[in-house]
Amino acid sequence: MCKTQNAHALTPRVGPHTVIRERPDSVTTDKWANPQKMWDERFAKAEPVYGETPNRFLEAQAKGWTPGARVLVPGDGYGRNGIWLARQGFCVHTVDLSPVGVERSRKDASAARVDMTIECADLAKWDWPSGEFDVVASIFVHLLSDVRPRIHASMLQALKPGGVVILEAFSPAQLRYSSGGPKRVDLLYTPEILVCDFVGAEILELAEEVVDLKEGAMHSGPGAVVRGIFRRS
Ligand SMILES: C[S@@+](CC[C@H](N)C(=O)[O-])C[C@H]1O[C@@H](n2cnc3c(N)ncnc32)[C@H](O)[C@@H]1O
Repeated sequence: MCKTQNAHALTPRVGPHTVIRERPDSVTTDKWANPQKMWDERFAKAEPVYGETPNRFLEAQAKGWTPGARVLVPGDGYGRNGIWLARQGFCVHTVDLSPVGVERSRKDASAARVDMTIECADLAKWDWPSGEFDVVASIFVHLLSDVRPRIHASMLQALKPGGVVILEAFSPAQLRYSSGGPKRVDLLYTPEILVCDFVGAEILELAEEVVDLKEGAMHSGPGAVVRGIFRRS
C-alpha cells in the first residue's frame, strides 16, 4: 500500500565513523519555505552551479529516442538539460519556478540558436497537458510531499501512451554525502515512493545507487541517487 512514509523510517543508517558535513536545513534556516527565492539566489550566481553539460543518465537515455521526439523538462533550472536536448534535435518544452533560471535559459537558448519553449511556472499550479509528450525528463526536481505525488502523476499523464518519464533524484542515503541535494529527508526519494507516485506505469528501470557526480560545483563527487524509467501504458 502507498502511504506517506514517516521521516524516521526514511532516515538512513549512519555508522559511527560517518561524517555529515552539513547540518540539516530544518535545523538551520528553512530555505524551502520560499523555494523561488532559494532557486533565484542560486541561479543568480555567475557560475553554472550544476555545470554546463547534461545529466549523464538523461544523456545516455536520449541516445535511443526518435529524432524530433517531444520532450517536457519540468524544473529545468537554467536550462542545461533542455538546451542540450534541443541541440540534439528534440522538440523541447521546459517549465521552471525560478524567473532568474528561466531568463538565463532563454538567453543561453538564444545564444545556442535553438528553438524551444521555456516557461516560468510553478509545477503545482501549472495547467498540465495530457497525452502530448514522448518523454518527461525530471532531473533532481525535489518536491515537497504535499505536491510531489500529484506532480508526478501529472508527469505521467502528460505522456502519450508508450511515452516515458526519466527521473533522477537524490535518495535518503545522500545525507551521508556532501555532493549536493536537499538536507531534508522528506525531500529525498526512494524507489518505494516512486513506485507509488507512478502507479499504473510500467517500470522499465528503477535503481538506487551511488554514482560519481560531475555536474558543476554543487553536484560533485559520490552521490546517492535513485534513477527510474516509467512507461505510460
Ligand atoms: C536542483 S535544481 C535542478 C535543475 C535542473 N533539473 C538540472 O538538473 O540542472 C531543481 C529545479 O527544480 C525547480 N523546481 C522546484 N520546484 C518547482 C516547482 N514547484 N515548479 C517548477 N519548478 C520547480 C527549481 O526552480 C530548480 O530549477
